[in-house]
Amino acid sequence: MKAPKVTKVTTHVLNEMKLRGEKISMLTAYDFSMAKILDCTGIDVILVGDSASNVMAGHKTTLPITLNDMIYHASSVKRGVERALVVVDLPFGTYQGNSIEALNSAIRIMKESAADAVKLEGGSEIVESITRILSAGIPVMGHLGLTPQSIHKFGTYKVRATESEEADKLISDAHLLSDTGCFSLVLEKIPAKLAENVAKSIKIPVIGIGAGSKVDGQVLVLHDMLGITQEFSPRFLRRYHNLNDEIKIAVERYISDVKDVKFPGENEQY
Ligand code: KIV
Repeated sequence: MKAPKVTKVTTHVLNEMKLRGEKISMLTAYDFSMAKILDCTGIDVILVGDSASNVMAGHKTTLPITLNDMIYHASSVKRGVERALVVVDLPFGTYQGNSIEALNSAIRIMKESAADAVKLEGGSEIVESITRILSAGIPVMGHLGLTPQSIHKFGTYKVRATESEEADKLISDAHLLSDTGCFSLVLEKIPAKLAENVAKSIKIPVIGIGAGSKVDGQVLVLHDMLGITQEFSPRFLRRYHNLNDEIKIAVERYISDVKDVKFPGENEQY
């Protein structure tokens, strides 16, 4: 099947990509300028992840970020994007245990940021929330495996579902999310073979992070893959650049130009 030229990525486009075996590329973004650069590259999906809590706000976990924060980041991103599908994380505490609150949170994100879809972490425990959000016509991406909003339950960020009980629950949750109507599923930090089996056995596209290459697409946190963040180095992270050093070099040059009165020059003033 030949790939058609796509001017706007939709959930249907992602489905077709899975059907013809074309891999889906996804990265996070949290602001207008970065989102605009990403969109020009032809990236398929931009995730306004609650990882903003870590990389933008400096928190140790994703738990503190609020719905208002996420709407601010999402609307900034959305203003920079024409082509990519923009998916926004529902933050911790805005959907668990109360499906009406979940729907209201998702509606706020869609109305106030003009995003294309929302993402929620969890399986059977949150299926009522997912069902209610879907009933309002809002596309939902699932997220299983290492779900950072549950870090206090897990206790560590180590690989999930290595034991058969957790792997079996993940497989049944993946089927449940697919059957419930999620348009796609993120699998984070689980054994590659398990991720491959899930991707093969469900209809919706499976996007991996630390889940091996045999899934339907990949996602990374932008600040990690660009080498802006330095302290986080899991095995699955490939750094495509070392922007941390590049930024420091540029800023040090600026400082020394200012100190030596080499900036501004004759033609940089009025
Ligand atoms: O918040 C985030 O950035 C995520 C990705 C790691 C999938 O959920």
